[in-house]
Amino acid sequence: KDIHILAISGSLRQQSSNTALMNAMIALAPENMKFSVYNGLGELPHFNPDHDTDEGASEVRELRKQINEADGVLICTPEYGNGVPGVLKNALDWLVSSGEFINKPTAVISASPTPMGGDKAHASLLLTLNMINAVIVEGGTLIIPHITLKMNKEGMITNQETKRDLEAVLHKLGLACNI
Ligand code: FNR
Repeated sequence: KDIHILAISGSLRQQSSNTALMNAMIALAPENMKFSVYNGLGELPHFNPDHDTDEGASEVRELRKQINEADGVLICTPEYGNGVPGVLKNALDWLVSSGEFINKPTAVISASPTPMGGDKAHASLLLTLNMINAVIVEGGTLIIPHITLKMNKEGMITNQETKRDLEAVLHKLGLACNI
């Protein structure tokens, strides 16, 4: 049976290493894992509880629909100022009350050119995902330091250990979605 994963990159940047990583994972994934990419982060309105209704903005409804329809979610994100990128946190804020993440198997990867790999954003993201009752997949989290040394300009993963780590994350995410 096919598994449908929604992939989200926390970076809006054209040359983003996290988006490249996300796309590399989609290419590495087993045949029965089908991916959609959510690319609406930049267009979502700023979270405002006054507008947090079932109706609300069409962009918010679309985000909720896409999460709802996915068997699992893959998030690849950078770290800005020791935290989760605002656009990604903004999207999650829209999902607190509506509950689409409840019981949703979720894999979380952070990548950064620094030696820390975006560990603070990673930890912070897990706090938020736990709060909204996502299922953080065991073995489905990965912090990737020195990302620029591990992929080439075309966005291909050149580091074999990283490639194996990413395949392991996909495997665990797939298993969690099958249950
Ligand atoms: C960064 N970067 C960064 N890196 C990190 O590991 N911790 C941090 O707190 C920050 N803070 C930060 C702030 C701002 C304003 C910028 C522009 C950058 C560096 C960041 O990891 C690097 O730019 C990555 O390449 C961003 O990810 P993408 O866009 O390549 O996916």
